[in-house]
Amino acid sequence: SGRGGANQVEYVITPTAFSVAARFLILYGSQHGQAQSIAEEICQQAAEHGFTADISCLSNQHKYNVDHEIRPVVFVVSTTGDGDPPDTAQKFVRKIKNKSLAHDHFSHLRYALLALGDTNYANFCNGGKTIDSRLQQLGAKHFYATGHADDGTGLEVVVDPWIEGLWDALKKMFSSMSSNQQGADLRDCTQDNYHKNASGQEKNKSDLEVDLHLLKLSEVDSQKGKTITSDSSDVETLFTALVASLKQSVPPLSESVLNVPALPASYLEVHLEQGSTERETVPSDKDCYHEVSISKAVQCTQDDAVKTAILLELDISNIAYQPGDAFDILCPNRASEVEELLLRLDLQTQKNCAVQVNLLKNSTAKVPLHIPQNGSLQFILTWCLEIRSAPKKAFVRALADFTQNGSEKRRLLELCSKEGSADYNSFVRDANVCLLDLLRAFPSCLPPLSLLFEHLPKLQPRAYSAASSSLQHPGKVNFVFNVVEFPARPEHPARTGLCTGWLADHVSSILRPLGTVPASEHLGTSALPKVSTIAITHYTFHLPADLSIPVVMVGPGTGVAPFIGFLEQREKEREANQEATFGETWLFFGCRHKDKDFLFREELERFAHNGTLSHLIVCFSRDEPDAAGTVNSPTYVQHNLRLHAKNVASILLKDKGCLYVCGDGKNMAKDVNDTLLEIIGNKLQIDILDAMKIVAGLREEKRYLQDIWS
Ligand code: 2AM
Repeated sequence: SGRGGANQVEYVITPTAFSVAARFLILYGSQHGQAQSIAEEICQQAAEHGFTADISCLSNQHKYNVDHEIRPVVFVVSTTGDGDPPDTAQKFVRKIKNKSLAHDHFSHLRYALLALGDTNYANFCNGGKTIDSRLQQLGAKHFYATGHADDGTGLEVVVDPWIEGLWDALKKMFSSMSSNQQGADLRDCTQDNYHKNASGQEKNKSDLEVDLHLLKLSEVDSQKGKTITSDSSDVETLFTALVASLKQSVPPLSESVLNVPALPASYLEVHLEQGSTERETVPSDKDCYHEVSISKAVQCTQDDAVKTAILLELDISNIAYQPGDAFDILCPNRASEVEELLLRLDLQTQKNCAVQVNLLKNSTAKVPLHIPQNGSLQFILTWCLEIRSAPKKAFVRALADFTQNGSEKRRLLELCSKEGSADYNSFVRDANVCLLDLLRAFPSCLPPLSLLFEHLPKLQPRAYSAASSSLQHPGKVNFVFNVVEFPARPEHPARTGLCTGWLADHVSSILRPLGTVPASEHLGTSALPKVSTIAITHYTFHLPADLSIPVVMVGPGTGVAPFIGFLEQREKEREANQEATFGETWLFFGCRHKDKDFLFREELERFAHNGTLSHLIVCFSRDEPDAAGTVNSPTYVQHNLRLHAKNVASILLKDKGCLYVCGDGKNMAKDVNDTLLEIIGNKLQIDILDAMKIVAGLREEKRYLQDIWS
């Protein structure tokens, strides 16, 4: 969803084999950098395929002009918020939506578009679709079918084949545009990339076949047969042992040559200098981050609950917010992981050196803005780079080139090859593998720093929904989160989520169990832990201004957070407006056990008692049936929604009420959406397609709002 900003990189790759005519333009609209890095990957591969690619962020409108563009254009556009184009594409979208444009305004334009989205959210790929349909309306023509990539199932499933097909489409495009001579040039360019090694020289085919004694992590998996503890050295020993044994025992996997992506071009060089680092402050895009104190930390779950939820109260005297807004928190990478990374990169003694990053000669790329010049190496690894991110295939490909051991190198090549896609998905992406895990598993890999700086994305802040109203807590904001736990896997030791684990450690000295913190407790100000934070708005996830409008809130688990803010606000408004008419307020909450993880139980019971909540409907998914033997009692929020279908339908369809859903987007929000379709379908006696139209209408009117995450 639309939080944070991506750096914009502009560069041109110079052609090697082609005339200038085989030149195309890549325009990307990125929110968190995914569209940008895909655009850059296309740009890098372009040279390998003999094209010249120019690349620009859509926001840099002075760098290109689609009104007169004769080059084919490749758009890569992500989606944010409720299906909006990313912030960086907003101006462009406004421009092409201008009603005064003629119906053939873009008839000169030939383009291809790759839309990114996530089926866990509403309006899948809508950012790209918006641009695509408007360009079509104004006469632009596709030279290649639009791709719709789903982050929910893995962008690469669509992105990789889409990029692969792009080259042929471009070739056809250029041959139709150009003379026979140029067409012949284009045909020369069809050789298999893998036949070239890093320096572009031809490789001998028999060398390649020897290369195919690949290690398979799947074999590692099936042979493990022992318990892996969270101790990283155990994992490392296990890996090393398995890597060694598999080297002899695994037969060649395939007779054919692997389809490995081209080695991405490097563009940075990094120098380390002793003892002249600049003053280091926590980096921020905007200057509106505030360092604030954590004035309270309460564990909201019992010790024997499966998940640990923590409530934090922040002192935010000068940051205004409304219930439903979210707060961005910046957190550092784990010190132990930074240390181990330094060790594995053989840079431990240089961690205090000042880092200088320069562009390689002839490169027109830009130094990533999130890497400060003269920051110390340790600082940059701690605060600037997302070292936990799953290495992209281009990164794995580049790492292979810095891997000494032949079997390890071959396995890395396989992981980034087309044939290894399923392995890459299950052993890297879905396993939450990070660079450090790869370096542990492939100990002969020793990449230079420049490679990390080129491939590791910017460390992003994490957003948390406010769980309070400033009417009840002047100068404070509360938020609540589950400490995310990643259990040990063959690929990595057990660990906690980057930000939630860091916050939990950070507040351990002031963390109190539930019920032991008097409301008036004052911890003093000197020793309080601090965090860097910024308030951001959801724009729409707010209560209706009209107090009489009824609301239905669905928020199981920590999804209840924004509704605590809503209800605190309503409670105060009721006190201040005794005469006013208040619409009904329904809250559907769910957790596992009544006595272990019923978050905000006291507050919710108070709201129900004093009328702030007209209906508090709670379910417990893992409690035994009660004494009355109600075996089929509802387990999930959507079961309760169904039980109250009549009321829910009438609030939404008759009383013009609002439905808010907050929490897990992978399963819960989808199931709730399905239940809503069913409720509306049954109520109006219409089929699912018509029910979908009604639900789309509710979204459009901002009467069905989601704040979900996956
Ligand atoms: P479970 O963990 O017992 O499956 C908060 O996380 C609550 O949401 C838990 O009770 C959890 O149940 C429940 N939950 C899990 N999957 C859900 C789904 N698809 N729809 C609604 N609630 C779900």
